Amino acid sequence: MVNNTDCLKFDKLESSILLYIDKHLPERRAHTLGMRNVALQLASIHKIDCYKVSLACLCHDLGRCLPLSDMREIIKKYYNINIPSYYNTGLAHCYVSAIIAENDFSITDVEILNAIKSHTVGHAEMTIFEKIVYASDYLDPTRGLEQTISLRENILNDFDSTFIEIVLDSIKFIISKKEYLAIETIELYNSVVIKN
Ligand SMILES: [Fe+2]
Ligand SMILES: [Fe+2]
Repeated sequence: MVNNTDCLKFDKLESSILLYIDKHLPERRAHTLGMRNVALQLASIHKIDCYKVSLACLCHDLGRCLPLSDMREIIKKYYNINIPSYYNTGLAHCYVSAIIAENDFSITDVEILNAIKSHTVGHAEMTIFEKIVYASDYLDPTRGLEQTISLRENILNDFDSTFIEIVLDSIKFIISKKEYLAIETIELYNSVVIKN
């Protein structure tokens, strides 16, 4: 149960993240708020902590403002990982977003940080919390994608089948651009198809 003090702390934290977005990546404000709206709807249906989902959504793209060279340095420093040369900012920013959430906003909740980290490529063992953030990122109405209109409706009644469609759409998009398809995304696809 969230008390009044927690609500105030949350409001303050939310405002400071939005200020960061306005300063460093104002072009992502509408997307961030749009995907959060979708995610909050899904969180309520699946009885997931809406405060935590909201924070994950607000933070998910925080690292997007940095150039790839900076992302590489930060990921090396904090995770001791050399990201592969074929990784672009679209793939790498999730790790940096999680680091910013932790360092700049003192978010240490593992569920929130994992959802931020997995929102680009996913993985085979995604929790419902992670899937909500991943799906909402794609379903954000401000993206203006026609194919997401029906998916936004369907996901309210049939999360699992719609989630497969979302993963499939993401894979098709990556392949259509002849970009690197992360093994984690293939494993995610296989895991949801088997479970369904
Ligand atoms: Fe992202
Ligand atoms: Fe995003």
